[in-house]
Amino acid sequence: MTFGMYSICFLVLLYLFHGSEEICPSMCLCVSDIVSCSSSGLTKLPQSLPSFSVTLDLSHNHFSWLGPGSFKKMSRLENLQMAHNQIRTLGYGVFHNASGLRHLDLSSNRLQVVEEHYFQGLWRLEELLLFNNKIAQVESGTLSGLSSLKKAYFSLNQITHFPFFSIRDHSHPFLTMLDLSSNRLNRLPWEDVKALPGLVQRGLYLHNNSLICDCSMYSVFWHWQLRNYDSMKDFTDEHTCTIYGDSHASIRFLLHNRFFHNCTVEKAVSEPVTVYLSAVSVSEGGKVHLDCETSLRGANLSFTWLSPSKGRITQASVNDTLINVFANGTLEIQGAKVNDSGLYVCTAVDIKQALNATREVNVTVVLPAQEAFNTGYTTLLGCAVTLILILMYLYLTPCRCSFCKQPKPAANPTAAYNPNALTSVFSPSMRDEHKIPTDKHVAFLEPMMTRPKQEII
Ligand SMILES: *[C@@H]1O[C@H](CO)[C@@H](O)[C@H](O)[C@H]1NC(C)=O
Ligand SMILES: *[C@@H]1O[C@H](CO)[C@@H](O)[C@H](O)[C@H]1NC(C)=O
Ligand SMILES: *[C@@H]1O[C@H](CO)[C@@H](O)[C@H](O)[C@H]1NC(C)=O
Ligand SMILES: *[C@@H]1O[C@H](CO)[C@@H](O)[C@H](O)[C@H]1NC(C)=O
Ligand SMILES: *[C@@H]1O[C@H](CO)[C@@H](O)[C@H](O)[C@H]1NC(C)=O
Ligand SMILES: *[C@@H]1O[C@H](CO)[C@@H](O)[C@H](O)[C@H]1NC(C)=O
Ligand SMILES: *[C@@H]1O[C@H](CO)[C@@H](O)[C@H](O)[C@H]1NC(C)=O
Ligand SMILES: *[C@@H]1O[C@H](CO)[C@@H](O)[C@H](O)[C@H]1NC(C)=O
Ligand SMILES: *[C@@H]1O[C@H](CO)[C@@H](O)[C@H](O)[C@H]1NC(C)=O
Repeated sequence: MTFGMYSICFLVLLYLFHGSEEICPSMCLCVSDIVSCSSSGLTKLPQSLPSFSVTLDLSHNHFSWLGPGSFKKMSRLENLQMAHNQIRTLGYGVFHNASGLRHLDLSSNRLQVVEEHYFQGLWRLEELLLFNNKIAQVESGTLSGLSSLKKAYFSLNQITHFPFFSIRDHSHPFLTMLDLSSNRLNRLPWEDVKALPGLVQRGLYLHNNSLICDCSMYSVFWHWQLRNYDSMKDFTDEHTCTIYGDSHASIRFLLHNRFFHNCTVEKAVSEPVTVYLSAVSVSEGGKVHLDCETSLRGANLSFTWLSPSKGRITQASVNDTLINVFANGTLEIQGAKVNDSGLYVCTAVDIKQALNATREVNVTVVLPAQEAFNTGYTTLLGCAVTLILILMYLYLTPCRCSFCKQPKPAANPTAAYNPNALTSVFSPSMRDEHKIPTDKHVAFLEPMMTRPKQEII
């Protein structure tokens, strides 16, 4: 063999192992910054997990707890999958030095108490999956400090008390999904629930609990139903409460509200109710429709748009041929100019019920020359080509040097091309979706399903 052949072979190995220190554990699969050790029968963490990993998949193993500083060397970790293990507790400081975590999946484990220290320091955490555990108690400080939290799933547990009071106007500004469905909540602190920020109330799922029917409960749901929240629309049947706490006397209170006829519900106050956000992109000179669909429904809505370049626009005020507001609130812009870019805010007002709702659309007018170039795709393509080249070097060149170890079977990069293996890493919840027998347990699995509309009696 020539010297050139040796050096190519050496370089290939160097590339595969990403530096001599960072060897992919034999039971794991390492591709780029993704390390997957799922379904490997692990009971404890592999000795040397590569410190460069951004995504670490440890789901479907046999972990029963995680010790302090488990991930302390993985400062780049953003995505940790630990679903389908037998984790009962987490030690103090488990996520010490892993404060970059944004997605944490501990679903389908055996957690019983969510202790205050569990998620300490995870101020970047956006998504927390704890559904299908045995959680009876969520300690009051658990969510404090999780200021980036967007979605938290606690469904299918045995929770009787939840620290609603710890979620306040500015504590969790991005929280839009709090799934507490299918638990054992019975008497909620309704004043705390009513004090939750509007976006949290909109994304709060409480169906299939053991709520006790009373007027303070009904009044909260009445308001949510009036605002047409998805939780009310999609789970009408599953909202039940029990009369006098008797589990046999359970009523579907969104369908049958006779029991609450003597309740007084406060008149809805006029306040901005919802903010829907969306973004559109239009080429210069093009036409764009911005709809003003909000939570408000009905024939008697009036719409006002606030445009960055033209100020307030209503149906009556339009005298510009290039701009129009339709009766359904849709704003039409013809011949869009770059100057028309910006945030458009529509306010829909229902005068009769004294409700208003807003919708925001971020409009970007692009010059036709500025083609959006999908760098993510090209990076992926480049990566695939590189890998194929490496494989060709490994298996097609007559490289028989004695010091060149064959890659271990589990780390064999060919496996990376198995699309099924990759799905579990890139879309972690797919596997769980199939495992869950009915589609109604977990609220967030719902929006994909289409179901016949419920008749409201
Ligand atoms: C962990 O973080 C501390 C500072 O909080 C730092 O001093 C230490 O070096 C880090 N340890 C590792 C292994 O990165
Ligand atoms: C409502 O009040 C009326 C009289 O005030 C009473 O007769 C009726 O039983 C009450 N209904 C319920 C469901 O409590
Ligand atoms: C909501 O509507 C009321 C009147 O119906 C109005 O005075 C108030 O300014 C509106 N709020 C917003 C944010 O548009
Ligand atoms: C709409 O409001 C007008 C008065 O503002 C009223 O006459 C009409 O009946 C209302 N229509 C509906 C469908 O509520
Ligand atoms: C609408 O017309 C009035 C006069 O009829 C004019 O003063 C105003 O500038 C016009 N507004 C726009 C946006 O063109
Ligand atoms: C509103 O009406 C306009 C014109 O009739 C139509 O083009 C648009 O699709 C409608 N928007 C919605 C959301 O229905
Ligand atoms: C955008 O607006 C500014 C001032 O408002 C103006 O000077 C500029 O010419 C406008 N540009 C275009 C492309 O219309
Ligand atoms: C609107 O979109 C542009 C480009 O996508 C972005 O730079 C800008 O920050 C967005 N504005 C808001 C208010 O979201
Ligand atoms: C309701 O919750 C129980 C557990 O509390 C669960 O077994 C059941 O499947 C749930 N039902 C629905 C319709 O989600």
